[in-house]
Amino acid sequence: MSGCEPSATSPAWAGLEENIQERLLDTATIEAKVSDLAADISRDYQGQDLLLVGVLCGSFVFLADLMRRICLPLQVEFVCLSSYGSGTESSGQIRMLKDLAGPVAGRHILIVEDITDSGRTLKYLVELLRGRGAASVRTCCLLDKPSRREVDFAPDYCGFEIPDAFVVGYGLDFANLYRNLPYVAVLKPEAYEP
Ligand code: IMP
Ligand code: MG
Repeated sequence: MSGCEPSATSPAWAGLEENIQERLLDTATIEAKVSDLAADISRDYQGQDLLLVGVLCGSFVFLADLMRRICLPLQVEFVCLSSYGSGTESSGQIRMLKDLAGPVAGRHILIVEDITDSGRTLKYLVELLRGRGAASVRTCCLLDKPSRREVDFAPDYCGFEIPDAFVVGYGLDFANLYRNLPYVAVLKPEAYEP
């Protein structure tokens, strides 16, 4: 879905774009990939009782687009996990800030996440939900930085593998900003380095 581009008519909004080093994925490229992922998911979950679990906050834009392209009955819930402070490096410790509303025993769960970095967040959540008796737990992330992996984890569905750079937009943030950029971009290091 298209959004508003930073423009000179809004100085504060255009100021955000000054912190962008390069655009990595434009809106059309993202939309095409989201459609492909949704087609794969629609095929793979035929006849199953699908529960999408979005990981807040970064996944909500991707999840909103993805779920509207999945041609199956499905339910959606959210968890909020935190491994990052306001910086760009993982603390390594996962905290559950908001849990699922209901039980998941017997459910087919697809976790939807914005990006896999160290892999700790998704590995933690997969193990947690398997431990609660889910019938299956798989993962779908828009972006993956495999060179940053610190634990043994690979997403089942992945949009794009990207290099080791800190990216923002299409739901991804730095200090809770940039989520509403309609594209994915590399942030200039001087925007976050002290
Ligand atoms: P992991 O547990 O290290 O895999 O971290 C995953 C989480 O870190 C993601 O859900 C994001 O919230 C955050 N993250 C990792 N890399 C980036 C990035 O380049 N931009 C924005 N957030 C990121
Ligand atoms: Mg996240």
